[in-house]
Amino acid sequence: MPATISTPHYLLDQARRRFTPSVNNFPGMGLVERRLLNTQFPEHKLADPPPGSGLKPILGDAGLPVIGHIIEMLRGGPDYLMFLYETKGPLVFADSPVLPGVAALGPDAAQVIYSNRNKDYSQQGWTPVIGAFFNRGLMLLDFEEHLFHRRIMQEAFVRSRLVGYVDQMDKVVSQVIASDWVADDARFLLYPALKRLTLDIASMVFMGHEPGADHETVQKVNSAFTMTVRAGNAIIRTGVPPFTWWRGLKARDLLENYFAERVKERRGKKGNDLLTVLCQTEDEDGNRFSDEDIVNHMIFLMMAAHDTSTTTTTNMAYELAANPKWQQRCRDESDRLGDGPLDIGSLEKLESLDLVMNEAIRLVSPVQWAMRRTVRDTELLGYYLPKGTNVIAYPGVNHRLPELWTDPMKFDPDRFTEPRNEHKRHRYAFTPFGGGAHKCIGMTFGQLEIKTIMHRLLRRYRLELPRPGYTAKWDYRTIPVPMDGMPIVLRPL
Ligand code: HEM
Repeated sequence: MPATISTPHYLLDQARRRFTPSVNNFPGMGLVERRLLNTQFPEHKLADPPPGSGLKPILGDAGLPVIGHIIEMLRGGPDYLMFLYETKGPLVFADSPVLPGVAALGPDAAQVIYSNRNKDYSQQGWTPVIGAFFNRGLMLLDFEEHLFHRRIMQEAFVRSRLVGYVDQMDKVVSQVIASDWVADDARFLLYPALKRLTLDIASMVFMGHEPGADHETVQKVNSAFTMTVRAGNAIIRTGVPPFTWWRGLKARDLLENYFAERVKERRGKKGNDLLTVLCQTEDEDGNRFSDEDIVNHMIFLMMAAHDTSTTTTTNMAYELAANPKWQQRCRDESDRLGDGPLDIGSLEKLESLDLVMNEAIRLVSPVQWAMRRTVRDTELLGYYLPKGTNVIAYPGVNHRLPELWTDPMKFDPDRFTEPRNEHKRHRYAFTPFGGGAHKCIGMTFGQLEIKTIMHRLLRRYRLELPRPGYTAKWDYRTIPVPMDGMPIVLRPL
């Protein structure tokens, strides 16, 4: 059937258009994205496979002049990638002028990339995106060096340490939720409130700042940190004033100086905050971090811990507001715990909240993709990948594939329980925290933080949508953010 697109688009070549019925299956795609998806750009190979290798070439195209497929990526989010998977298969060459790479879609590709058996994939895939601001963070280190650092850092996340962190998290959460949040107001925006809260938690748990103490410094550090995160997404990527990228580099300088001073203070001191713990920890062979290592790790940890937890908590609150039966089920468990101090054991009893957390994180996965770069010529699912190729696995897409999940867009936390166990349909069906050597080191920390917040919230308020039929809309350009800040009404109980 020929295409029937009535309004011509000045950038599009009419002759190259074709009709793709399945584009209509993706409700997240707007008019512009649909029109672009109905366009067939000239296809070419990433590279010719070596003769006789039996490998297939990876095909793709460059999209529109100058901007490539940026519109579909930014506006379509996971729906665009689902569309690629459905129409082009698991490996698609995106010959982007900004960052050319191969989209590796589906759980089989994720398995090869995460498990990285032959050490073919390096973390340097992340460098063009966040390297300037999160230089030498754990996620950006490779192979032997990464293992060396990870073994030392692991000591800061053992259960005995987590016990101390939960105690501190709970203090901040209880104080902020009780005093700062506005009830009975449909204009109250949950996302920014949670973002401030998770930053307050990080200030205390990571750096040992008591809530309210040394307010000016904390504010300065927090804003510098927010700036580095924002700069990673800058469109104009140059260190020239007054562009965002330049502001990000200035902010990174401030953070480096700040943490360098703090490391000097904390060496040899006792304390339960993460910074002091990193100053003390050593691996079984007595290896310790240098001062510079701690500075780099702290800046990365702040980033890794913050928006991920904020997005997950926001989506949990939204889904509970939209699904009052699940809200009540979670509250019943919280009521059984009561308002006493929390510890790991008591948080483990909140089993329904675990299911809701998994489902919220599946539906809106905070880390939508994992970036890698090949360090040698290699093979992926029978296709040829030359050395130096950026390869991007997409857990955010795998979490929505109809072959893995029943009615994938439905909020249905019971899919994680016996006998359904949908997350076990493939070993790499559900990887919100990654997999292999770089699997999230803060997974348990993050889960404990999120459950602490949700428990305190459910004990104090009934969560309601701002109006009947309200549906959240997410911006997937980075770690997903609700476009309207997520208005949720807090009704005091
Ligand atoms: C809901 C919350 C979180 C989610 C969904 C999440 C997700 C992830 C994912 C997918 C990765 C792997 C990235 C890759 O393969 O390239 C990762 C790595 C990492 N995460 Fe998390 N994270 C969360 C919370 C946290 C927290 C709270 C911390 C710290 C306290 C943290 C620290 C890290 C670190 C240091 C790495 C790098 C690990 C390595 O390379 O060895 N994350 N995270």
